[in-house]
Amino acid sequence: MTKTRNLPKDKEAELYQAARRAAEFAYCPYSNFPVGAAVLTADGRIFSAPNIENASYSVTICAERNAAAQAVAVGNRSIVALALYTRSPTPSAPCGACRQFLSEFNPEMEIHCISDGEEVLRFTIKELLPKAFTISP
Ligand code: THU
Repeated sequence: MTKTRNLPKDKEAELYQAARRAAEFAYCPYSNFPVGAAVLTADGRIFSAPNIENASYSVTICAERNAAAQAVAVGNRSIVALALYTRSPTPSAPCGACRQFLSEFNPEMEIHCISDGEEVLRFTIKELLPKAFTISP
C-alpha cells in the first residue's frame, strides 16, 4: 500500500463498506446517532468499529477512536486512511478529540466522510487539526 491521497477505488469501496457495516453495531441509545469508522493500515488491512455510548455520557467512545484502537491494539500503527460514516443525509467531520487521537498515528492520514447522501468530504488530519499537540521525544 502507498501512503495515498488517492486510495485505489476498490480499497476505497471496501473501506466505505466497512464503515457503513460498523455503524450497524453502534450502541447509541442516548443520541440515536449511529456512527461507523474503518481504518486502512499500510499493509492493506481494514479495522472497523462503531460509536459506543454510556449512561455517563462523557465516557462515550467515538467510532473513529474505537476503529483506530482496534488496529493499534494488534500492532498496526501505520494508519493511512479512515472512513467515517454517519447515518445522516450529509457527512460529518471527526470531532476534535478524534482529530488529536488520529493525528498521533499519521498527520497525513486521509479522512473520508460519508453518509446516506452522495456527498463525500475528504481531508487529511493535518488539514483538520493544524498544529496538533505533540510531545517531542
Ligand atoms: N461521535 C462519533 O462517533 N464520532 C465523532 O467524531 C463525533 C460524534 C458519536 C458520539 C456519540 O455517540 C454520537 O456520535 C453523538 O455525538
